[in-house]
Amino acid sequence: MAKYKLAWLPGDGIGVDVLDATQIVLKRIALDAEYIPGDIGWEFWCREGEALPQRTIDLLRNVDAAMFGAITSKPVKAAEAELVPELRGQGLVYRSPIVRMRQMFDLYICLRPCKAYPGNPLNYRDDIDLVVFRENTEDLYSGVEFNPVPAELAEVLLKLSKPFAAFREYPLDQLAISSKIVTRKGSERIIRAAFEFARQHHRRKVTVIHKANVVRATEGMFLDIAREVHQDFPEIEMDDANVDAICMWLLKNPGNYDVLVATNMFGDIISDLAAQMVGGLGFGCSGNISENLGVFEPSHGSAPKYAGQYKVNPIATILSARMMLDWLGETDKAAAIERAVAAVIQEGQIRTYDMGGSHSTLEMGEAIAAKL
Ligand code: NAI
Ligand code: MG
Repeated sequence: MAKYKLAWLPGDGIGVDVLDATQIVLKRIALDAEYIPGDIGWEFWCREGEALPQRTIDLLRNVDAAMFGAITSKPVKAAEAELVPELRGQGLVYRSPIVRMRQMFDLYICLRPCKAYPGNPLNYRDDIDLVVFRENTEDLYSGVEFNPVPAELAEVLLKLSKPFAAFREYPLDQLAISSKIVTRKGSERIIRAAFEFARQHHRRKVTVIHKANVVRATEGMFLDIAREVHQDFPEIEMDDANVDAICMWLLKNPGNYDVLVATNMFGDIISDLAAQMVGGLGFGCSGNISENLGVFEPSHGSAPKYAGQYKVNPIATILSARMMLDWLGETDKAAAIERAVAAVIQEGQIRTYDMGGSHSTLEMGEAIAAKL
């Protein structure tokens, strides 16, 4: 029996292309794993009314980790129209399979390392080596939303809000509410994960990103908890910054930052900013992680216009596979992949279109594999 069971979930569009290239690299490094293909994405929504079928959920319960490509999502009305005729009109609602996976398996860490590899023509600067820890299950993504707002809720809000709250001036049927729900447990575990990572990887500093001065209840609690957790990691420096300020500081002095941690939405925004500074979507790797399961994926989507053309950059996905190996404890193999990616970028002989070249997705995968 193989040492690891891995779910292999290409999904839609270029998800297939980039996972094919990643397979070349994992084969070459001889990871002792069984790769079990799983169904996810648009095709399964259209045919079965479910983008994350039960059999895929069962598969995820029985594996050590998963590699995931990308999926296509469409707005609710368009999604309904693409169902096979026998499933239309039954009130089936399209739900993002990624968000469901995160919630169902409580994948509370969204980990996104952003490193400027020397020689990458897309680097914004060369002194960037950031690791973003984004809380992945709560905050504004809790799904507690109202538009219109039910009368009973509006009444409670009128009763409990400050007299100067702007919304009080308007008719109650004009309100829309998305709730920012943050828990002590959710905050503590993501902050602790960031500090543990810093300790394990000999990183010097954790920067807590927040908006505690204005969004006091949730962001203020997040910052307070960070200060508490920091007590357990005296050898690591902690600082904090407002989310708006950090956008400026990251652009000005990226070398001053190391590990970053934030609640869900601020983390989402900061991770895209950081990814763009090191080459954009072709380089943005990520892991959705809990103690029991890790789902690793490039941060880009299915880019339908390039689907099946084997044109896009697989480095984001290959670096995600590298994260998976680290998470599994295969640190030597992970480091080897990292070195191989760095060498191919540095040499600059093989480049996909986004890097200014014309090599294919698979040629990039082969070039990286050849360095192993
Ligand atoms: P996208 O990320 O799929 O692509 C946007 C553009 O970025 C592409 O047209 C391409 O020019 C470039 N690009 C993306 N990946 C690249 C790569 N590996 N190498 C080089 N260039 C790359 O975003 P878009 O077009 O907004 O969304 C397409 C579909 O993907 C939508 O249905 C969207 O809902 C879905 N999506 C899925 C995600 C996921 O599966 N995690 C994340 C983001 C979007
Ligand atoms: Mg995003």
